[in-house]
Amino acid sequence: METTARPARDQWGSKLAFILAASGSAVGLGNIWGFPTVASANGGAAFVIVYLLAVALIGAPVMLAEFVIGRRTERNPVGAFKALAPGSAWVVVGALGVLAGVMILSFYSVIAGWTLAYIVKAATGEFTAGADTAAIFNSVAGSPGAAIGWHLAFMSLTVLVVIGGVRGGIERWTKILMPALVVILLLLVARAVTLTGAGPGLEFYLRPDFSRIDVGVVLAAIGQAFFSLSLGMGAMITYGSYMTKDDDLETSAGWVVLFDTSIALMAGLIIFPTLFHAGLEPGAGGPGMVFVVLTSLLSTIPPEPWGGTVFGLLFFLLLMVAALTSSISLLEVATAWLVDDKGVSRKKASIGVAALAFLIGIPSALANGAVPWLSSLPGIGMDFLSFLFMVFGQYALVVGALLISVFTGWVWGVRAAAAEVRSNDGKFSLEATWSFLIRFLCPVAIVSLLVYLLWQQLAS
Ligand code: TRP
Repeated sequence: METTARPARDQWGSKLAFILAASGSAVGLGNIWGFPTVASANGGAAFVIVYLLAVALIGAPVMLAEFVIGRRTERNPVGAFKALAPGSAWVVVGALGVLAGVMILSFYSVIAGWTLAYIVKAATGEFTAGADTAAIFNSVAGSPGAAIGWHLAFMSLTVLVVIGGVRGGIERWTKILMPALVVILLLLVARAVTLTGAGPGLEFYLRPDFSRIDVGVVLAAIGQAFFSLSLGMGAMITYGSYMTKDDDLETSAGWVVLFDTSIALMAGLIIFPTLFHAGLEPGAGGPGMVFVVLTSLLSTIPPEPWGGTVFGLLFFLLLMVAALTSSISLLEVATAWLVDDKGVSRKKASIGVAALAFLIGIPSALANGAVPWLSSLPGIGMDFLSFLFMVFGQYALVVGALLISVFTGWVWGVRAAAAEVRSNDGKFSLEATWSFLIRFLCPVAIVSLLVYLLWQQLAS
């Protein structure tokens, strides 16, 4: 690979900066909106256990694999596969990633748009005692103008950051705001677990009923792990490509996984006690559930009427920023491909991709009450946003991660990959474990689940 012939590429400013940026990509709506939504639809605590196993045994090794591919090649996913397996069909994995990124961004921006709307709702004092939580959600998601307008606003913010490039844009945001998010989450956990009726919620979330585990739950857990960790479509390949040669890939992957998972677990501690306190049905709320539940939590925070307003403002502002540090990584993959491989300017590439994702996102923006048939697709029963989340936010990532693990484990090879992991300090302490997981456990687990699911579908 002649990396020297190309113009100097952006790089992260320091080791910590890389961990923060990768965590910024990982931590987002997937943790605070996705994790509780998927957990409640899949039986609560039983799902949580499978999720933790999926993160440790499948998510973490794939994250390291993506970092390694990225740093070795210094390319976007398409270019990376071209560089490591020239002339082969593996480049399709990169292309699939570019596509999945655009599709995920399309609905991600819709949900993130709701957080923007909720910032305004907090500011105007709507989160006070007796708030009509469902009506508040409906006034945003159920109104075509509001839903599309906030979607456009969020997509525009995303483009503005991505145009700034890696160091100027992405890095600066993440550093300050992630720790602030953790603080406010902890305060909300404290409020949620002390609500009357919190007990049954904690039980649903933490006491597993193993009879609820089935293949569907396991696949949902793996899919959610990939979504939350930003894996399976090359986002972490792209971020890894901006790492310097002294970054430690192994510890970086460990920190990002730990951080991301802790935040998801905290979100569960907020959502489930509140959900039961508010007398809602777990698994019934769809994409709006988390927003409805959060409103009812905020409206219990004293002193009236300031508590809900102040906490609401802080919380939704930080959630919006967390979503922004994730959406930029979704936009960055297609942008980096157009910039690196097609010679398009960064500005043109990011505006073009975002405009496309905005248009594709419009039906998702209309799928939570605004347009009835999009809100419950004929023959599928699901709303359009949840459907896209399932197809691109879960299945495409599972398939992408499968191919990435097969490529790293068998095609490029664990030896070459391990040499790259070791290149900064000569150490790779979990080499044997990682090699086993990436070569055997990840591919075998994913393939058998997919085959079983397909077989079930055909049999029914
Ligand atoms: N991980 C982010 C979240 O939890 C979403 C995200 C960003 C993502 N980049 C990604 C998901 C790449 C899958 C692939 O909100």
